[in-house]
Amino acid sequence: MKKLRQAAVACTVGSGMVAGAALAQPAASAREPAGKQLAFDVRKGNCLACHGMPTVPDAVAAGLYGPPLIAMSARYPDKAKLRAQIWNAMEANPATTMPPFGKHGVLTEAEIDKVTDFVYGL
Ligand code: HEC
Repeated sequence: MKKLRQAAVACTVGSGMVAGAALAQPAASAREPAGKQLAFDVRKGNCLACHGMPTVPDAVAAGLYGPPLIAMSARYPDKAKLRAQIWNAMEANPATTMPPFGKHGVLTEAEIDKVTDFVYGL
């Protein structure tokens, strides 16, 4: 009987610690800028599937299929051109494999704006 009580106490302490650890986890995503979240989200931009982002430490690119997204404001002085590339990459290159995020409604207009802001800062 004593052993059983000890086990019960151990369980209570154990689960308390698990709950405590879960609560201590910071809500990391809540602090990230929306454009970055959209670009990283596999169901949204999924940009990392094809592009590296060398200046973003937590950008783990699966493939280096597309060119690395770096120095974008220098390479795209006209931000509208950058937005157009993200909205419909087929405009610049009809044979591209980059999905036309705006044209096909993968991202809303507001989401394209946020992703463009994020990419422009890379
Ligand atoms: C399926 C692969 C794929 C995905 C996903 C993808 N791209 Fe691309 N992207 C490419 C390829 C390939 C190119 C090279 C240009 C071309 O094909 O015309 C490119 C080119 C670009 C360029 C022009 C790069 C330069 O150096 O001028 C930008 C900007 C860009 N992509 C942004 C994005 C963003 C932002 C996302 C996510 C919302 C994204 N791409 C998702 C494949 C992809």
